[in-house]
Amino acid sequence: MFSYLEENAIDALWRRKLEQDEHGLPLPARHRNLEPISAEFLYRLIVSLGAKRTLEIGGSSGISTIAMAAAACQIDGRLISIEIEPERQAESRATIKRLMFERFVDYICADAAAVLPNDSEVDLAFIDCEKADYIRFFDMLRIAAGGFVVADNILSHSMTDYVAHVRCQPGTESITLPIGKGLELTRIVR
Ligand SMILES: C[S@@+](CC[C@H](N)C(=O)[O-])C[C@H]1O[C@@H](n2cnc3c(N)ncnc32)[C@H](O)[C@@H]1O
Repeated sequence: MFSYLEENAIDALWRRKLEQDEHGLPLPARHRNLEPISAEFLYRLIVSLGAKRTLEIGGSSGISTIAMAAAACQIDGRLISIEIEPERQAESRATIKRLMFERFVDYICADAAAVLPNDSEVDLAFIDCEKADYIRFFDMLRIAAGGFVVADNILSHSMTDYVAHVRCQPGTESITLPIGKGLELTRIVR
């Protein structure tokens, strides 16, 4: 599981997010971090699968990045973290440096739409960006046979179009898990 330092880093980000919500900060100014329970699930999933090549779309200030980097460290894997907002990514970089996970993470500061076509095949991808982009980014991913796509906010945002889309692709198996805000776990069987 997470070390004391990793747990502390996640807690600090999560507490700030809750405070921002409580104080009603304007939406664009808020850090919309991943629920810690979902981060823990992501970590356990990557480690138990031995998914060495991972990618996230929407790293923000970094709860999911900490979890995926900690998993990569456990299994000698690697994470590509894509985030469009430079300030959010700079904060994530500083945290990952402090946790000494730098060698496990390749940061890309860009619109995922521009860089996904150049990305190589991965074993597991995590989608946590604007909801309107989920389907097109899912279609742009290159997932290895037997690999997985995990998407957040499925229940909180009633992402029925996304769920229907991934489930009607040939060679996929998919389930919605009631963890955090709802995770769609899709296996690419082919
Ligand atoms: C819900 S937050 C991600 C939270 C993060 N996964 C965490 O665990 O803290 C969504 C993030 O997606 C980023 N984003 C939105 N559209 C994007 C795009 N087209 N390419 C890359 N990042 C994007 C936003 O800037 C925002 O930081």
